[in-house]
Amino acid sequence: MELIEGLLTRRSIRKYQDKPIKKEIIEEIIKAAQYSPSAHNRQPWEFLVIDDKKFLAELRHIQRWTSFAQDAACVIIVCGDMEKSFSRNKDDEKWSFVDVDCAIATQSLMLAAWAKGIGSCYCGAAPMQKIVDSLKENLKLPDNIRPFAIVPLGYPAETPKQPEDRYHPEKIHWGNW
Ligand SMILES: Cc1cc2nc3c(=O)[nH]c(=O)nc-3n(C[C@H](O)[C@H](O)[C@H](O)COP(=O)(O)O)c2cc1C
Repeated sequence: MELIEGLLTRRSIRKYQDKPIKKEIIEEIIKAAQYSPSAHNRQPWEFLVIDDKKFLAELRHIQRWTSFAQDAACVIIVCGDMEKSFSRNKDDEKWSFVDVDCAIATQSLMLAAWAKGIGSCYCGAAPMQKIVDSLKENLKLPDNIRPFAIVPLGYPAETPKQPEDRYHPEKIHWGNW
């Protein structure tokens, strides 16, 4: 699939065929995500792939807008490593690029999936602290690992209407505001 076509046609897919995704394809998708840009090239991402049906069905108790994940082939929890990310933790300066880097990797992951005919939907975790904490506890994540996004994946069983209202030329400011 041509890149611009993929960008324009990717839609959130929330209905899935009952069909597994081959491990090699998941690996290819995650490989594409790992080629994303990151602050200071720290590549602070980690990818937890879960296809356990019980977990998929119970995920909605952790993040309430993920009920459709129960029919997904798997979910990928995109996580950030707080120790690897480009960050500062001084009295006068506290920041981390971890969420920015993970967001970019998540978009790359979804676009790579779409290029393989696989539907996905970004489901937010960070910065919702209760959901971050709950995922950390349920998945027994190490202290330095921040669950950032939940991405259910599956072969689509729906074809969402393409939006007609996305392009707003007035949001482009040429030269000055
Ligand atoms: C940060 C973020 C969090 C989101 N969380 C959810 C979610 O929890 N559940 C869900 O069904 N969709 C979620 N979405 C998907 C949006 O609803 C979707 O991207 C938006 O409606 C635009 O539709 P499109 O992805 O088909 O272009 C989220 C998207 C983003 C970027």
